[in-house]
Amino acid sequence: MNNYSLRFFQTLLLCSMVCTFAWSQQSNKPLSKLFQQNFKFAEAQYKVLAKNLPADKFPKTFFPNTNKYEWSNSGWWCSGFYPGSLLYIYQQTHDKAMLDEANRILKLLEKEQFNTTTHDLGFMMFCSFGNAKDIAPKPEYKDILIQSAKSLASRFNPTVGCIKSWDGKKDEFLVIIDNMMNLELLFWATKVTGDSSYYKIAVTHANTTMKHHFRPDFSSYHVINYNGATGAVQQKRTAQGFADESAWARGQAWGLYGYTVMYRETKNPIYLKQAQQIAKYIMANPHLPADKIPFWDYNAPNIPEALRDASAASITASALLELGKYSNASLKKSYFKEAETILVNLSKAPYKARAGMNGGFVIQHCVGHIPGNTEVDVPLTYADYYYFEAMKRYLEM
Ligand code: GLY
Repeated sequence: MNNYSLRFFQTLLLCSMVCTFAWSQQSNKPLSKLFQQNFKFAEAQYKVLAKNLPADKFPKTFFPNTNKYEWSNSGWWCSGFYPGSLLYIYQQTHDKAMLDEANRILKLLEKEQFNTTTHDLGFMMFCSFGNAKDIAPKPEYKDILIQSAKSLASRFNPTVGCIKSWDGKKDEFLVIIDNMMNLELLFWATKVTGDSSYYKIAVTHANTTMKHHFRPDFSSYHVINYNGATGAVQQKRTAQGFADESAWARGQAWGLYGYTVMYRETKNPIYLKQAQQIAKYIMANPHLPADKIPFWDYNAPNIPEALRDASAASITASALLELGKYSNASLKKSYFKEAETILVNLSKAPYKARAGMNGGFVIQHCVGHIPGNTEVDVPLTYADYYYFEAMKRYLEM
């Protein structure tokens, strides 16, 4: 064989190896094309949302029956999801309009770094500035995030071993399962400042929560009312679920996501086990419908007529895709399959909006707060955000 033929065969071999690799990647992730299309769809939807959004407001929800929006100020716990969603879309589609709108709204959100009246700073600042520092960084983001971590840490009570969620009555120190989602910001703060106090607060909060929030079947209570002076548990109850002893669907999703992050950040196997047990509770639940979009509470009284909560599904999908990375092959496969089922179902009717509808939000049929009769069967910013995050995670795997 002369030199020319040898080079020809070498090139042919290399091409076939590249094609085989690309094909195997594609066949392992058959949903990639669908998700890329979904991001293009989201880009068009978010232009509708951005066009309707008053200059000084943040999107909250939209009521399809009356065609009315509800907006919020930057202090609402969901204010970080809109910029976070815009950044996730921008990362996939590279449409500069998404980035420009994200940058505009981040400016409005910036002042919340000093807010010490809420535990939601992780949601508000890490889903927004935390993504911005990776996707479209600016030097000022580091200081904004460190200040946010300081504000969040100011709510930690060492006697209770928790960050206070809600400012209740004098003798109440209320902690909700959702608070697990705010800890990621603290881990980041320790990494960039070298100050281990943030890390210690996050670990202490997670350990206290593991002790008191969970039942033997690894479902969780929504609210624990501690005595702030002694740390004693005074009450275990719900706020947004059906009953004190029920399993509010989004609460289970927050716990799953929260302990997955705990394992990522500490590599302590007790958190991996905790996340896997929560996953088992969710996935093996006899009330989980075949399409894997849960009823708003696993113990809702009127199942199967009860409303679904698509937001709980999107959070669960995103968490499972990460948890799979830390789990053995068989669990990984089952988490991946579950996440795929959720995402496929969220990507079509009745959960995916029709083009230009749903006020520009992508996902419909979520439940915010049924006992409070607010945000019932509507789109919600965090359903979209975690749906985008889950698809991004899938595409990056
Ligand atoms: N409290 C946050 C939520 O509704 O999930």
